[in-house]
Amino acid sequence: MKINLKPDHKYIEVAERIEKLIERRALKVGDKLLSVRSLSREQGISLSTSFQAYYHLESKGLIEARPQSGYYVKFSPRDTFEIPASSEPAEEALPVSVDEMISSVYNDLRSPKLLSFSLSAPDVSLLPSAKLNKSVLHSLRHSPDHCLSYEHVQGNELLRKQIAKLSFNWGGSLSEDDVVITAGCMEALSFFLKAITKPGDAVANESPTFYGIFRVMQSLGLKVVEVPTDLVTGVDINYLEQAIERFDIKACLFVCNFNNPIGSCVPDEKKKQLVDLLAKKEIPLIEDDIYGDLYFGKTRPRTCKTYDKKGLVLHCGSFSKSLAPGHRIGWTAPGRFKDTVIQLKRMHNVSTNTLAQVSIAHFLQNGRYDFHLRRLRKDLHTQCLRYFQAITEFFPKGIRITRPQGGFCFMD
Ligand SMILES: Cc1ncc(COP(=O)(O)O)c(C=O)c1O
Repeated sequence: MKINLKPDHKYIEVAERIEKLIERRALKVGDKLLSVRSLSREQGISLSTSFQAYYHLESKGLIEARPQSGYYVKFSPRDTFEIPASSEPAEEALPVSVDEMISSVYNDLRSPKLLSFSLSAPDVSLLPSAKLNKSVLHSLRHSPDHCLSYEHVQGNELLRKQIAKLSFNWGGSLSEDDVVITAGCMEALSFFLKAITKPGDAVANESPTFYGIFRVMQSLGLKVVEVPTDLVTGVDINYLEQAIERFDIKACLFVCNFNNPIGSCVPDEKKKQLVDLLAKKEIPLIEDDIYGDLYFGKTRPRTCKTYDKKGLVLHCGSFSKSLAPGHRIGWTAPGRFKDTVIQLKRMHNVSTNTLAQVSIAHFLQNGRYDFHLRRLRKDLHTQCLRYFQAITEFFPKGIRITRPQGGFCFMD
């Protein structure tokens, strides 16, 4: 229905001109609009008329306000795709086998003919390479041992302090003593599973989940209980509760925030329910929070660790998706399993790369990480909207697509 507004409404006229630019793609999805102040100055209109014009476009779903950033062109497809149905995994605890599928993905990875949608890694152009390199040089120059010695098995103290500080953003209050540094998230997951399971044990995972998780489980001789996963709100807790009775589940391993490959995010209230349920059953929960900092909305989602009262949540994350995949730096907060994780770390690789730890600690200490994350989140949000737009335009009708609110992954 078209509402006829009086033509003397100045804000409508301005809004309609902006709308035309969006229609003609002169302004593309994810593009930033002029600030309210600049719009007012350039168009010779009052601030309130500028605001009204943007509110008008916002109410039509054409633009969106992003916190502390301004107004952006929004993705609003004419033919919205449906969200795919949740998976229906086998109702059994199964041995894991994914080698063939993973080999075929990796064999194709470097093919120049293919655009790879299979690897979840940031493009280097999105990373603060120059500033991070400055931190590397600074660390080399100012470290008394030129970063040549082994680091402490638990990890560089300054880095652990910085990671503890970051926990404030997800509602935590870690101290440096709670944190153990690892070579990326994969090492953390492997130590966690080794610390709390033995071959033949059943571990619950989201369905589908990141193939790397299956690989570690396979190498440890574990069985997987796949838990159906809602494509918006994540793992099905009711199903999990019943599965715990049927399969003698020894641990759960979930990626609750913007998981790979779905992009779903468990709402904070549901995270609390999950932690409470597992605490009642004394089942450890491995929480891989590698994507948690990459939210598109106003606030960072909480973690399961936030609600952990018994030290049963083994939390981990890494800088692989946000800063430097090649530096191979991750972290854990293993709760009551900390000593076992440190023993495993000592046994498996003595300590994590010193130069990488000191450099990232320096980068964080100087406030550069916060600054970088703010930009990265914006860039990833824009990229995600542009993918949607391209899929809407070029993919066949009838496909379904998830709508992640953060991270790198969506599924169709
Ligand atoms: C959910 C999840 N966990 C862990 C990893 C691997 O992390 P890292 O490179 O820090 O070992 C990935 C990488 O794709 C991932 O998607």
